[in-house]
Amino acid sequence: MWENTFVFKHSSSFLVVFLVQVLVHGHGVLVNAQGSRASPWQTLSGDAPAVIARGGFSGLFPDSSSNAYSFAMMASSPDTILWCDVQLSKDGVGFCLPDLKLNNCTDIASIHPDEQKEYLVNGVSTRGWFPVDYNSTTLSRGISLTQGIYSRTDRFDSSTFPLAVEDVPKLFGPPSPALWLNIQHDIFYSHHNLSMRSYVLSISKRMIFNYLSSPEVGFLSGIAPRFQKTKIKLVFRFLEEDLIEPSTNQTYRSLLKNLTFIKTFASGILVPKHYIWPVTSDLYLQPHTSIVTDAHKEGLEIFAGDFANDADIAYNYSFSPVAEYLSFIDNGVFSVDGVVTDHPITPSEAVGCFSHINKSSADHGKPIIVSHYGASGDYPPCTDLAYQKAVDDGADIIDCPVQVTSDGVLVCMSSIDLMGDTTVTKSPFSSRASLIPDIQKAPGIYTFNLTWEEIQNKLKPLMTNPETKYRLQRNPRYTNAGSFMTLSDFLAFAKGKVLSGVLINIENADFMVEKLGFDVTNAVIAALNSSGYHNQTSLGVTILSSNSSVLVKFKQTNYSLMYMIDEYISDVASSSIADIKKFADSVAIDKESVYPSSHDFITKQTNIVSTLQKGGLSVYVYVLRNEFVSQAFDFFGDPIVEINSFVLGAGVDGVITDFPGTARAYKSNSCTRLGVDAPAYILPVQIGGLIQLIPTPDQPPALAPFPLLEPSDVVEPALPPASKPAVPAAPAGGSPPPPAPQPSSGPRCAAPAVLSAVSLLVAALLHLAS
Ligand SMILES: *[C@@H]1O[C@H](CO)[C@@H](O)[C@H](O)[C@H]1NC(C)=O
Ligand SMILES: *[C@@H]1O[C@H](CO)[C@@H](O)[C@H](O)[C@H]1NC(C)=O
Ligand SMILES: *[C@@H]1O[C@H](CO)[C@@H](O)[C@H](O)[C@H]1NC(C)=O
Ligand SMILES: *[C@@H]1O[C@H](CO)[C@@H](O)[C@H](O)[C@H]1NC(C)=O
Ligand SMILES: *[C@@H]1O[C@H](CO)[C@@H](O)[C@H](O)[C@H]1NC(C)=O
Ligand SMILES: *[C@@H]1O[C@H](CO)[C@@H](O)[C@H](O)[C@H]1NC(C)=O
Ligand SMILES: *[C@@H]1O[C@H](CO)[C@@H](O)[C@H](O)[C@H]1NC(C)=O
Ligand SMILES: *[C@@H]1O[C@H](CO)[C@@H](O)[C@H](O)[C@H]1NC(C)=O
Ligand SMILES: *[C@@H]1O[C@H](CO)[C@@H](O)[C@H](O)[C@H]1NC(C)=O
Ligand SMILES: *[C@@H]1O[C@H](CO)[C@@H](O)[C@H](O)[C@H]1NC(C)=O
Ligand SMILES: *[C@@H]1O[C@H](CO)[C@@H](O)[C@H](O)[C@H]1NC(C)=O
Ligand SMILES: *[C@@H]1O[C@H](CO)[C@@H](O)[C@H](O)[C@H]1NC(C)=O
Repeated sequence: MWENTFVFKHSSSFLVVFLVQVLVHGHGVLVNAQGSRASPWQTLSGDAPAVIARGGFSGLFPDSSSNAYSFAMMASSPDTILWCDVQLSKDGVGFCLPDLKLNNCTDIASIHPDEQKEYLVNGVSTRGWFPVDYNSTTLSRGISLTQGIYSRTDRFDSSTFPLAVEDVPKLFGPPSPALWLNIQHDIFYSHHNLSMRSYVLSISKRMIFNYLSSPEVGFLSGIAPRFQKTKIKLVFRFLEEDLIEPSTNQTYRSLLKNLTFIKTFASGILVPKHYIWPVTSDLYLQPHTSIVTDAHKEGLEIFAGDFANDADIAYNYSFSPVAEYLSFIDNGVFSVDGVVTDHPITPSEAVGCFSHINKSSADHGKPIIVSHYGASGDYPPCTDLAYQKAVDDGADIIDCPVQVTSDGVLVCMSSIDLMGDTTVTKSPFSSRASLIPDIQKAPGIYTFNLTWEEIQNKLKPLMTNPETKYRLQRNPRYTNAGSFMTLSDFLAFAKGKVLSGVLINIENADFMVEKLGFDVTNAVIAALNSSGYHNQTSLGVTILSSNSSVLVKFKQTNYSLMYMIDEYISDVASSSIADIKKFADSVAIDKESVYPSSHDFITKQTNIVSTLQKGGLSVYVYVLRNEFVSQAFDFFGDPIVEINSFVLGAGVDGVITDFPGTARAYKSNSCTRLGVDAPAYILPVQIGGLIQLIPTPDQPPALAPFPLLEPSDVVEPALPPASKPAVPAAPAGGSPPPPAPQPSSGPRCAAPAVLSAVSLLVAALLHLAS
């Protein structure tokens, strides 16, 4: 183990020094008792799969920029291989640039607006700005790299120049990282009288690189004899099946049938990941092909490309990129020899911390995994399927937000308003909308306006989609899947499961008492009693409410009491802690109260978690979701990084999540227990580190601090006793047609979210086992 200091310059005025403890890890080869080597990896060599960072950490920084390369080595496994797409300038100098069209990856179009050209590229007429028209001086100093993918942040764009290939190793002290050179276009350059072959042969004498790939048979087979006696590995890159390989005029599909031929000039192949695990156009994973074992039989290594944490992946993975990687490297049948990725931290974790582990759902230690409406990332919230999935995925505690029907039945529903999580607006009850400002500003169709029979039989559940503004939809096949449950159903279901307990969330108790004459707290206590929870089960019961007067009513029971702080806060007055301790053992706080962010960049870490814990309260954070758009950029679109930062960085006791499977995978990882010896990629992210890398003019605006939690926010008047009979009035029939309200989430709970990565793995393994 050694300490390595990475220094990189972002702009002349700005120097950032990161100290990162980089550990040298073995290659995952276990040594058994006899001292012989037994590899758990089903790669060709038996070594751990390689992580290849395409243009560095290009998921965050402009592809092939010095920041992208430096950050990749800082954040990922020390074995990470840096990928460079080689392009040639007019004077024959190689640059790392991801695209033949400079306008895709630099600001050239604004610097030289009148110099657009049109050339044939593999027979296709293509307009743009091309490297062959510019000399190396212009490329290295006259233009800046930009983020070519519009959905990614452009705040890191300014003043990073393209790097000459030979400058990449110079970003690092010895030992410099392994390099992978990709020659995407040899024929194009030769039409412009530039020889990739001469360039590659000449730099091979001046610098070390480890892999050379190309999608052109002619280039690779021509140069192969020159590298036969070297350690440089030649890799044939397959493009989409229907494309024509320009030097043989065959499709890549037909070349794939002739791996024996490929083996005559290459030691490996690189394929788009869907060659291995095909995905339907509506994003469902199909059975894997035999290409990995076919390649290995031929003696070819096989690398899978196109991985990114912010791209669409099959629903089977529940939005978890780690789960996707595991299906390629740890599925019990095969492992690819490497993955090419825009977010190298995630495969580093998958290889180093998440492969070949046993997931034990019986471990109910910290962090405690609390489901949010069941596994509501995978199934409609609070349905039998969502709860079953939460149990299968290893939640420690499953949750029921309790609501009451017009006939006094307690049900589990994510909201008191049925419009968000059921098909009520398309049902005969769409006329039962009313405006009740005590509950929410918009009109709603409330649980207490329908009978349980009506809800159960006439309505269908509806998937929640918290990220629709980004057009991200949860598994459409399960849009209306599952059945609703009463609280009694839920309590009966939970008994005997591998859980540590159940959580019951009670909101709007004051409204129910005052306007419906229904004492929900007593009804919940009675339901727990009659389900035998006071003496017949080892399951713990937690009552959650954002209104302290509800929790006060449960003081007489043995249940643990969790207070939900339903606003963003910056700190907690110590007198508030004393007040909370009078009625709660734990608190649930929003993610933003721990790591406030501006434009999705975290600005700092507050002390709230430790302050509350010092005051004797356990702290849970809500709501964690797998979808990358639900996370700050600081977490790299990787839900494992986010969980890790809350658990190790902030020290929370538990997480409330739409995707309990991902939290369970995190809990089972083989690295965090190593403590300070854990590899860099599983250390919590440096909070506020990313925002510092943004040049001043592009910095997101500073935030006004959130308020302090004061005792007046915490202490509430006592719940009055129920004045009316415990069953609310039946709904009035024949009310006038309702306005057409928009679904709105309840006032208290944030809309639910997410799925887990683990379900992918489980699904894949189940599939493979059958
Ligand atoms: C650059 O190329 C990528 C990948 O082909 C594409 O998604 C993106 O839209 C392009 N960007 C520009 C600015 O042309
Ligand atoms: C590179 O091109 C620029 C702009 O055309 C020109 O001014 C400069 O002299 C050239 N440099 C060399 C070394 O040819
Ligand atoms: C390449 O070189 C040949 C021979 O010198 C010349 O005729 C041709 O115009 C050149 N092509 C380009 C694109 O410069
Ligand atoms: C491929 O096809 C093109 C156009 O059809 C032709 O000019 C070229 O000679 C062919 N190359 C080979 C290797 O067959
Ligand atoms: C494989 O490719 C080589 C070279 O193009 C060719 O000679 C051979 O017939 C091909 N084999 C098959 C099975 O297509
Ligand atoms: C992916 O999910 C779909 C829908 O649930 C299922 O039909 C399919 O079998 C799954 N794919 C794999 C490889 O498990
Ligand atoms: C996982 O469990 C299996 C079977 O119980 C055991 O053989 C294996 O060693 C375990 N692996 C780890 C990493 O604990
Ligand atoms: C819903 O129930 C509330 C409380 O009982 C009542 O005031 C309201 O009129 C009902 N709305 C409809 C549309 O039945
Ligand atoms: C909490 O409950 C009390 C007692 O019913 C009520 O007076 C108060 O308005 C409630 N607080 C909030 C924020 O809803
Ligand atoms: C619940 O059961 C306990 C113990 O049997 C009893 O003391 C309590 O009164 C019961 N509460 C209700 C609301 O039934
Ligand atoms: C649980 O309590 C109920 C009454 O509250 C009692 O009838 C029953 O025997 C108790 N069961 C056990 C296992 O103690
Ligand atoms: C609470 O727990 C204690 C000890 O476990 C037990 O003696 C007591 O009867 C329980 N009280 C209730 C109301 O269940």
